[in-house]
Amino acid sequence: MSTIEEKLTKLREDTLKQLKDLRLENQKELQDLKVSVLGKKGSLTEILKGMKDVSQEMRPIIGKHVNEARDILNAAFEESAAYLEEEAIKAQLASESIDVTLPGRPVAIGNRHLLTQISQEIEDIFLGMGFQIVDGFEVERDYYNFERMNLPKDHPARDMQDTFYITEEILLRTHTSPVQARTLDEHDFSKGPLKMISPGRVFRRDTDDATHSHQFHQIEGLVVGEGISMADLKGTLEMIIHKMFGEDRKIRLRPSYFPFTEPSVEVDVSCFKCGGEGCSVCKKTGWIEILGAGMVHPRVLEMSGVDSERYSGFAFGLGQERIAMLRYGIMDIRGFYQGDSRFNAQFKG
Ligand code: DAH
Repeated sequence: MSTIEEKLTKLREDTLKQLKDLRLENQKELQDLKVSVLGKKGSLTEILKGMKDVSQEMRPIIGKHVNEARDILNAAFEESAAYLEEEAIKAQLASESIDVTLPGRPVAIGNRHLLTQISQEIEDIFLGMGFQIVDGFEVERDYYNFERMNLPKDHPARDMQDTFYITEEILLRTHTSPVQARTLDEHDFSKGPLKMISPGRVFRRDTDDATHSHQFHQIEGLVVGEGISMADLKGTLEMIIHKMFGEDRKIRLRPSYFPFTEPSVEVDVSCFKCGGEGCSVCKKTGWIEILGAGMVHPRVLEMSGVDSERYSGFAFGLGQERIAMLRYGIMDIRGFYQGDSRFNAQFKG
């Protein structure tokens, strides 16, 4: 068996070699090695157990050697720890360094949704004419959606606007027309006529296809005052259509039926693709149906407590998707709702 001296020397040399050779990956490994050599149950303690066999005279000398070895090893461990720390910082700095000469990453700039653009454009036109813009409720009462629009409970025209009922009396509105009744209820006619538009989302029980969606967007318009006539309706619509589709467009009113207007009209615009000659956009008719309108039914006025002998008005409702699809030749309504940014990016204003 080797002497304590020999064991000490070997431990010293082995440890120093290990420190030098081992590519210690991190502080933890270094710490583990330190514990295994200098710790309470480490190799050095193990060696010291042999001190009991050492003669009295030799003890101070060997003790000195033990201390020496411990000091040297401690110092070596400290040095390694410092070295590791420095290396870690260097590595971190290298990994975090920024190459300022690299070209920048382009920032993707979005744009407003086409439907938002359309409604803002129309809002701006009507704001310029002194209209107010009113928000309605998407969750509406049957009472406002139908009854106040002159569609009592058993009215056959309700079938065309079947919707999602929440209760017997509460539903997702089928059109923006209930905003008419709500604003008529509120309006103070001693302060002048009521002029408003109300854009918003509406819902119908429909099977989705290229031209139908169970939810879509309308803009309701309403003007009520003294002496408002069909000529005002026509003039207003002509103006808006000229602004939206070009000054040389003509409009045509065709008799139609809505329970809340009398008389009612369907409004066509001369085809902006072929100018009236007949093409695929206008289905060879030269005209494109664009909105519904009419003179507000006296009963709608009376239900709001408005004297229909004294006041009259016109109303219209247009579909935002329809306008956008016609204007930009969009073939499939579903593009509006799928959230594919490539769809919307085509309409950067
Ligand atoms: N509310 C009708 C619909 O959704 C559209 C409409 C037609 C609104 C004529 C009106 C109007 O204000 O006068 O089909």
